[in-house]
Amino acid sequence: MSMKKKVTYTLAALAVLAGIGVSARLWSVLDTSRSDVADNSVRLADFHSTDADAIRRGEYVMRLADCAACHNANFAGGYRIDTPFGALETSNVTPDRQTGIGNMTERDFFNAVRQGKGDHGFLYPAMPYTSYTQLTDNDMHDLWAFFSTVTPVAHEVNENAGMNFPYNIRLAMMGWNLLFFKNEGYSPQQQSQAWNRGKYIVDGPAHCSVCHTARNPLGGEVSGGYLHGGDLGTWYAPDISSDKESGIGRWSEQNIIDYLHTGSDEKSVAAGPMAEAVEHSTQYFTQDDLQSIAVYLRSLPASGSPKERPFHLADAARKQGELAYEVNCSACHGLQGEGIKNMIPAFADNDSMQKNPRNMIHAMLKGTRAPHTDSLQTAAGMPSFAWKMDDGQIADILNYVRNSWGNQASEVTADQVASMRKATDAAEKLKTPAQH
Ligand code: HEC
Ligand code: HEC
Ligand code: HEC
Repeated sequence: MSMKKKVTYTLAALAVLAGIGVSARLWSVLDTSRSDVADNSVRLADFHSTDADAIRRGEYVMRLADCAACHNANFAGGYRIDTPFGALETSNVTPDRQTGIGNMTERDFFNAVRQGKGDHGFLYPAMPYTSYTQLTDNDMHDLWAFFSTVTPVAHEVNENAGMNFPYNIRLAMMGWNLLFFKNEGYSPQQQSQAWNRGKYIVDGPAHCSVCHTARNPLGGEVSGGYLHGGDLGTWYAPDISSDKESGIGRWSEQNIIDYLHTGSDEKSVAAGPMAEAVEHSTQYFTQDDLQSIAVYLRSLPASGSPKERPFHLADAARKQGELAYEVNCSACHGLQGEGIKNMIPAFADNDSMQKNPRNMIHAMLKGTRAPHTDSLQTAAGMPSFAWKMDDGQIADILNYVRNSWGNQASEVTADQVASMRKATDAAEKLKTPAQH
């Protein structure tokens, strides 16, 4: 046999093998046999659960999974999610027959929530079925019972009308699933019950990694980056591994429980997308579940992310920063950067304020509001300084708070503030008459 022919045969054999590999993978990605445990005869609009316990448990699963955050409080959808590939709107998931999911059977519901197969075909992964796939059969049955109690709302949504070509083709999501979707339920590991419950909530219903894990350009989670911090456009979801520098390795179990339950661990106060997660979801978690989450998070290996390069604040800049801080910030954040316990974040002795500065710049430009929770009802607000300070002034004051009271952090530059001002569409600084 000639050399060339041999090579061709080998290549052909490899191609066949690869084909088998892909189709086996495709088969496992598309396999919906897990949904066979669900009824396929009664439609949601015709089903009215009378099992009060199942309904109550289902409502709790809905809180763990934060369905209302995206599908709106009445579940009628229409909430817009901007993606790099265009805008998506969330579906109406009330039992309305025409515009909602009233015609879904329980099995259809399982297929949609756990496997991303909806009424119109493959769902976009902005619906976090990639995490919900881990939901247990029992949690799914309860969720179904709860959704049967939701009031039907007629509200037409055209989910992917705002997606750009070719991303508006649902079939493309089959390819996405082939690359990134792990169609598997949660399998308990040889760890304590609390640890397993914590991992189940974090990876499954509460989908923490959707925000806290970095993504590749196609939107798949970066392997090896699990909970090491993720980019959310103009916000940043920080590293929540046990790394003492970049993560939350210095937080106690109680700090984590308090932060998720109230929105504050005494020093930090959740802002932006995390404030929403606390307000709509984590504040409702039971103390047992919060403790399980804390046990699990604290067991994660440190990310070992490279340390940020420290920055030396020159004396003149420090003097200026001190003055500007006293005038603009100290009334709320305290003269010594001590903040107000559980209400206004501290800068002193708070490592969260010495990491990636993106959220700090965001807060300065747009202002933010702390979560409103049953346990902390004040929900204090941080005013925007966009109209009062230019890019250089905002960078200067952040460099001051990030490098005072024992803090040491990387430099915030005026360029970073300028690009964030653009990205968040924040106001320009008002010009004083003398500048005209
Ligand atoms: C992060 C946002 C987000 C969360 C949280 C979320 N969804 Fe969705 N959901 C979406 C989006 C976006 C769509 C539309 C996707 C599409 O059309 O491809 C969707 C679609 C659906 C569909 C398919 C509807 C249809 O007509 O095919 C169902 C069912 C659904 N969601 C149920 C739920 C339930 C139940 C929960 C909580 C367990 C939940 N969703 C949580 C964003 C979300
Ligand atoms: C919608 C996106 C999103 C989801 C979902 C989310 N987070 Fe966050 N998280 C953030 C953002 C953004 C911040 C930064 C908040 C700030 O700067 O005040 C944050 C901050 C945190 C912090 C504080 C870290 C620090 O160093 O200050 C912890 C702890 C945390 N999240 C845990 C969780 C857990 C546990 C879950 C799942 C139950 C979760 N988050 C779900 C976006 C999210
Ligand atoms: C009226 C009171 C008030 C004033 C004045 C104020 N802040 Fe805040 N600030 C807050 C509150 C409340 C929060 C928490 C908001 C949240 O969690 O969404 C906050 C949050 C922040 C954050 C944290 C955002 C994050 O990632 O969690 C930074 C940074 C910040 N302020 C900087 C400043 C600086 C610098 C000044 C002065 C130029 C200032 N603040 C003035 C009340 C104030």
